[in-house]
Amino acid sequence: MNKSAFITGASSGFGLLTSVTLAKRGWRVLATMRDLGRREKLEAAARSVGVLERIEIHALDVTNAEQIARLADLIESRGEHLHALVNNAGFAVPGFAEEVTDAELRGQFETNFFGAAAVTRALLPQMRRQGFGHVVMVSSISGRTGFPGVSSYVASKFALEGWAETLRLEMAALGIKVAIIEPGSFETDIWTRNAKLTAKMSDAASPNAARRTRWQNKVEANAKNRANPQAIADLIARILETPNPKLRYVIGKDARMALLVRRVLPASLFERLMVKLSGLDQP
Ligand SMILES: NC(=O)c1ccc[n+]([C@@H]2O[C@H](COP(=O)([O-])OP(=O)(O)OC[C@H]3O[C@@H](n4cnc5c(N)ncnc54)[C@H](OP(=O)(O)O)[C@@H]3O)[C@@H](O)[C@H]2O)c1
Repeated sequence: MNKSAFITGASSGFGLLTSVTLAKRGWRVLATMRDLGRREKLEAAARSVGVLERIEIHALDVTNAEQIARLADLIESRGEHLHALVNNAGFAVPGFAEEVTDAELRGQFETNFFGAAAVTRALLPQMRRQGFGHVVMVSSISGRTGFPGVSSYVASKFALEGWAETLRLEMAALGIKVAIIEPGSFETDIWTRNAKLTAKMSDAASPNAARRTRWQNKVEANAKNRANPQAIADLIARILETPNPKLRYVIGKDARMALLVRRVLPASLFERLMVKLSGLDQP
């Protein structure tokens, strides 16, 4: 097999693990990351399992239109097929909806939504010429249901899901398959280094200060339940090797439970539960 996959956000977490997992399965991987200074972790992981030569690392910040165009041109100039695109790059902006600034909200969308859409649009002409290709969007359970404290993130993933669902319909007749994955909580840097709190989230004078502390305590208490991110890499590999993937893949016990509870409980009860579980039930 000499299939090739293009992955965004490959410096850590799901992106790194997916790059190595695909390389182990015989794929050639174009692993992209916004800061090449962070390539060592991926290189070490790939080297340790003997697949470094199958991974080609390129600089790509998904908010940088020039970098996107340059990579699309590079792929076209090689005259080779591109079998898969994994839109994985993303981060979170924790902060209450009433307090998030316009810049913070837009910044969240620039990467999680506009970045993924721009990379996809740049690589689709290649897939269209070939007449095949798989596109996987790394969304979240936050792309299906709202969670207090992360409205910006939830909104960006809802937008991504709507775009991807439509793209799937538009691409179906061209042989290009679009799938969305919806992970629950997995242990990666998105909870630490890549959680960019809104300014108000660390403002002691905010009227939400006490609620924020309770919310953060709940998030920290749940940290021990985060799952092993290798399951995501394995799922992405399976999707890319499936001729006709489904639209949505929910992964993680917590994600499946959230959807189940939402489906079976009356809406008012479900909402009360969400508020209680997030620590926001006192003014
Ligand atoms: N972990 C979870 O529980 C979870 C659950 C549901 C969905 N997700 C989604 O999974 C995806 C991967 O996140 P992760 O959990 O693996 O977290 P992670 O370890 O923090 O990895 C995020 C990756 O995205 C990159 N990134 C952020 N902004 C970027 C930009 N503008 N351009 C290019 N790369 C950028 C980061 O680069 P740097 O190394 O330079 O920061 C990093 O490589 C995200 O889309 C996230 O929303 C995660």
